[in-house]
Amino acid sequence: MLLVRRTRKVEAARVEAERRAELGEVATGLAHEIRNPLNAMSLNLELLEEQLAKGSSAVSSAELAQATRVETGRLARLLADFLSYARPSPLVTVPSDLNEPAAEAVAFLRPEARSRRISLEFKAHDGGAPALLDAARVKQVVLNLVGNALDAVETVGATAREVDVAIEDGGRFWLLTVSDLGPGFDGKNSDIFRVFVSTKPAGTGMGLPIAERIVRAHGGELTLASQKGEPTQAVATFPKA
Ligand SMILES: Nc1ncnc2c1ncn2[C@@H]1O[C@H](COP(=O)(O)OP(=O)(O)OP(=O)(O)O)[C@@H](O)[C@H]1O
Ligand SMILES: [Mg+2]
Repeated sequence: MLLVRRTRKVEAARVEAERRAELGEVATGLAHEIRNPLNAMSLNLELLEEQLAKGSSAVSSAELAQATRVETGRLARLLADFLSYARPSPLVTVPSDLNEPAAEAVAFLRPEARSRRISLEFKAHDGGAPALLDAARVKQVVLNLVGNALDAVETVGATAREVDVAIEDGGRFWLLTVSDLGPGFDGKNSDIFRVFVSTKPAGTGMGLPIAERIVRAHGGELTLASQKGEPTQAVATFPKA
């Protein structure tokens, strides 16, 4: 009995230590993400103060105010993303057609793709793809994955400015695939699913962790695969209804 009790105590302490380590890592990431925009804002405000005091200006006051507002927008987005990851509201699933939220997300991003001169194609599954879905959250998944694909084909090393989204039959699951002809990524696949891991100057590194949470909450999996000379593919699976 004593031994069992002691083992349980050790186990509980281990779980608590792990939880704290994880929390510490996330807090460090968040602090790091907040520091840059705060520094930029503080610097802009300092310059603005000097200008107001002296009436001189190399950069206009309007420009400084605008740059500061851009940084507040960045902080607001970071906070919204972080909360949707850390405190996700429960899914509200209803019988749906996976084609629909996917098509809506693609339609939403089409003007942006066009203005960035990227071809964005969508191939629905003929005859529908019935599944139990929270459509708004599934749309978020597609927005995040296609957003990454658009960024990828804009970097050096991309073989073509083309992104394809498709819904296919994968047996017990529907497969939602986003492929791009960008350069892919190095390193371990699992790293890019961690919060605040980003290689983009304006990226928060929340896109994939949020998408993964939503897909898992639906009972599916999200994987990202990249091989030299092949399209990078993000595949989200959704159990069929
Ligand atoms: N299709 C892709 N091709 C190449 N690299 C990718 C692709 N998708 C994701 N990545 C890599 O994974 C990183 C994390 O992606 P994630 O969507 O989580 O964050 P982000 O796009 O950097 O920022 P955010 O989505 O919060 O604006 C990216 O910075 C990029 O390095
Ligand atoms: Mg992203």
